[in-house]
Amino acid sequence: MSLFRKKTIEDILKTAEQESHHSSLAKHLGVRDLTAFGIAAIIGAGIFSTIGKASADGGPAVIFLFIFTALACSFAAFAYAEFASLIPVSGSAYTYSYVAFGELFAWIIGWALIMEYAIGNVTVAISWSDYFSSLISNTTPYQIHEWLCLDYFTAKNNYEQVFGLLTAGVPFEQIKTDKATAGLIEGFAAYGHAPQLFGMRFIFDLPALVINLLITILVYRGIKESRNASNIMVLIKLVIVLLVIFVGAFYVDTKNWSPFTPNGMGGLLKGISAVFFAYIGFDAISTTAEECRNPQRDLPRGILYSILICTVLYVAIALVITGMVHYSELAVGDPLAYVFEKVKSLRWLSGVVAVSAVVAMASVMLVFQLGQPRIWMSMSRDGLLPKAFSKIHPKYKTPSFSTIFTGILVAIPIFFVDINMVTDICSAGTLFAFCLVCGGVLKLRMDPNAPPSKFKTPYINSKYIVPGLFILCIILMFVFQKETVNYYLKYESFNAFVTKIPVYSFLIGFIIFSVMAFRYSFSLIPSLGLLCCFYMLSQLGYKNWLYFLIWLMIGLVIYFIYGRSHSKLAPKKIL
Ligand code: ALA
Repeated sequence: MSLFRKKTIEDILKTAEQESHHSSLAKHLGVRDLTAFGIAAIIGAGIFSTIGKASADGGPAVIFLFIFTALACSFAAFAYAEFASLIPVSGSAYTYSYVAFGELFAWIIGWALIMEYAIGNVTVAISWSDYFSSLISNTTPYQIHEWLCLDYFTAKNNYEQVFGLLTAGVPFEQIKTDKATAGLIEGFAAYGHAPQLFGMRFIFDLPALVINLLITILVYRGIKESRNASNIMVLIKLVIVLLVIFVGAFYVDTKNWSPFTPNGMGGLLKGISAVFFAYIGFDAISTTAEECRNPQRDLPRGILYSILICTVLYVAIALVITGMVHYSELAVGDPLAYVFEKVKSLRWLSGVVAVSAVVAMASVMLVFQLGQPRIWMSMSRDGLLPKAFSKIHPKYKTPSFSTIFTGILVAIPIFFVDINMVTDICSAGTLFAFCLVCGGVLKLRMDPNAPPSKFKTPYINSKYIVPGLFILCIILMFVFQKETVNYYLKYESFNAFVTKIPVYSFLIGFIIFSVMAFRYSFSLIPSLGLLCCFYMLSQLGYKNWLYFLIWLMIGLVIYFIYGRSHSKLAPKKIL
């Protein structure tokens, strides 16, 4: 059916080769650079910031969440590695879906990846700005105005809430010190102090915009420059993370590890989006395939090495911070710096951690800002986006228009979105992409004519394992999570039903997948990747599903208006 028209791997490689004759991207990357890019993209806002709330909700058991998420990501990483070695071109999951599922899915994935890279960068830029402005105020006599560190709507919302409390007679001092309302003060001050012109208040996150601009310039300037900058940043953040682990280990009080799971499964699962966010990024290195010296050998290695290194570091960090202070204290924006502030002799380390957080987050932005234009470049080469998106700069050899466009696309939401919303949406888009890449490997391997990949995921037959897992999960749920089961089996109201749709979808998907795994003897690793990522997606809450669906709808409208008729696979018009 033409809606699912596909490209063959040979077509894709031929197009990439032709393009490279015209305007070759520079090939500078080896396995060490790729591993460094992976670490650059993975370690960032997640471990320096969002892990705090996840630890406070889940307790020390948050390490299980890290291990589970690492496993899920590793399963998906195998699928990425297999595709990256089979089709070493810049489009990553977008290109892989083109081969496995056809053009429509490819477009959907390309569109979802914007959620991951561009929206992910909005999250990281805002986090970066938080760390940077507190660093300035803690280490210098200067302070950045509140109205230059926040988005307009958050400030307005906070102002209205505080104003409401004041009108209701709550004293300002109480609002400032009460844990539930203290976070509103910054926005209140920003809105109150912001300069006005014709009644319009000027409130925007200046540091987030500046770092976005600087990273865009760097990425525009060249892959070699980006690689060198990324390698230095990775070195700095690895040294600091290791320092945190080794120094912190001496201050662990094992009493803090008890109770290990204070809020049960419910508390633990609250952190799933934050912990997953901490792992996002390893896939971005597959977008540099055309800039690798030996992509088929090095990409799979780079992906898997970086994920392994980060998992070990994350579990160690989670153990250290939950051992140094009581888990309930960790609901702060800068947990790594916070735990060292608590130990008098280690306060100096808290400042060092803050500096390295700023470096770490900049490196995440760098890789994401590198990934997004390369996906657009691939989509444009296929005709799904205008030609300008695949234009390569004659001197710098980077996708110039796409890079600038990405910078603008990241900058716009910085003016008006708040960080929690973008973190969850970014996780949703990424998990969706991971599910499709795992599914793509399964589909490709069902095709007896599929070309062999230089890197092949070890095959273990899932025929009995996947259905067995389903039955085991159901039994465990009935034995240990009776309340949860009752909750999902009960119909209360339409609104309550809607909130349960993601979990119902997962269960129905699991049943269908078990039958298919049994029938087609699917390979176990991509099967587990798909199931684990789908499970995490089901835990993100229906609102994120809704936002994501709206985003996909917008994408589909653009596809049917532009991409479909301009695609290189569209039938030629005869005049
Ligand atoms: N994993 C990246 C971070 O934590 C997105 O910042």
